[in-house]
Amino acid sequence: MRVHWSSRIAFVLAAAGSAIGLGNIWKFPYMAGEQGGGAFVIVYLACILIIGLPILIAEMYIGQNGQANAVTAFDNLDKKNSIWGIPGYMGVIAAILILSFYSVVGGWILNFEYVSLFNNLSEMSPEQVESILPDLFDNAGAQLFWHAIFMSLVVAIVYAGVKDGLERWNKVLMPGLLFILGILLVKAFTLDGFGESLAFLFKPDFSKLTATGLLDAVGHSFFTLSLGMATMITYGSYLSKKESVPKVAINVAFLDTVIALVAGLVIFSIVFTFGLDPEGGPGLIFITLPKLFAQMAGGKFLAIAFFLLVTFAALTSAVSILEVPVCFMSEKFKISRHKVTLACGIFIYFTGVLCALSFNVLKDFTILGLNFFDLFDKATANWLLPIGGILIATFYGWKLGRKAINETLKDIKSKALKELFLWTVRLMAPIGVLVVLFVKLVM
Ligand code: PHE
Repeated sequence: MRVHWSSRIAFVLAAAGSAIGLGNIWKFPYMAGEQGGGAFVIVYLACILIIGLPILIAEMYIGQNGQANAVTAFDNLDKKNSIWGIPGYMGVIAAILILSFYSVVGGWILNFEYVSLFNNLSEMSPEQVESILPDLFDNAGAQLFWHAIFMSLVVAIVYAGVKDGLERWNKVLMPGLLFILGILLVKAFTLDGFGESLAFLFKPDFSKLTATGLLDAVGHSFFTLSLGMATMITYGSYLSKKESVPKVAINVAFLDTVIALVAGLVIFSIVFTFGLDPEGGPGLIFITLPKLFAQMAGGKFLAIAFFLLVTFAALTSAVSILEVPVCFMSEKFKISRHKVTLACGIFIYFTGVLCALSFNVLKDFTILGLNFFDLFDKATANWLLPIGGILIATFYGWKLGRKAINETLKDIKSKALKELFLWTVRLMAPIGVLVVLFVKLVM
């Protein structure tokens, strides 16, 4: 018998743990900052509702009813060697690419946690604090070291298995994350910049929105909900057939969105209180925040808490990414899970090396104008995941069709709601994504 999560809560925590990650705390705030705040946030929220949630439900349904890895789940619902396995294969590739850069960023976080613990930020000059990240970028050895530590933690958890690894660690790390974020929110509330932060995130100025911003919002809605690469299919495959998918999916999408908004609120409260630039880009939480922690009363503890929070969030997501190829290979090729976990971990460590070296040794090596780090990020979030998502929605909405949708929504009485959901999955979500991809291609 296939191993299953021990309870519904365990599944919600694991799926939310996958969704809530660097996407929420690192990517969302800097993207919103670069794209002018409110307008980006509104488009992003619309994407979560119209595109993200339906595809999340589709993935969980396919996993729960296929009861197998990213590729075999489609076979089980269609036929052996179904061509619908393609989004599953794409997912395995996307997982490898995403975890490569994700683990490098995870390494930066560990480095900052180390600095917050063992150096006194408050004794450093603002210039010194500002140079921690660029210094790390220049130092290939240090990046590879931290990337190795992060990847080892991820491998250790996945190695222990679904119940003793994934489930157990999500149960500890997720409540820890919520607790630390709660403390930071209370702190942010007392800062002068809180009001400005609210206005920045929720008062839209659509003149600031560009085609790139639009594509980023769509891509990010996939990235942040862990969609389009069969993560939620894989996690759903460990869910017993008795559980209701829509309820879990709504919980997960809601939690993920709230955490992103709260993280944004906290970060921009600090940014505005200290008159910093919200357009700090990917360095936002690594350059602006430590500078502030260094000047604030109690900043040392805040810094330790903040980077611990991000470490937890990153780990619970990274394990869900590694689980996709591990589950696929161990089931498809009948190799022991332990061996596959180690092999995938080592392989992805090396693809990750390309990302870590993108800032130093391989700085001038670009493909389509992007270094490996940016290439892996953009190719997955903006293309592979959305295209995977379209295929998954099409499989669920057209191939499995009404029957599957009625089964998914069996607890819901309203016929109109069922129809609305059916056509959202069949047309609205895929076309929404296609239009944005098209706009980006021609602009
Ligand atoms: N959702 C995760 C985050 O926001 C990243 C992720 C992407 C995880 C794809 C799994 C699959 O950080």
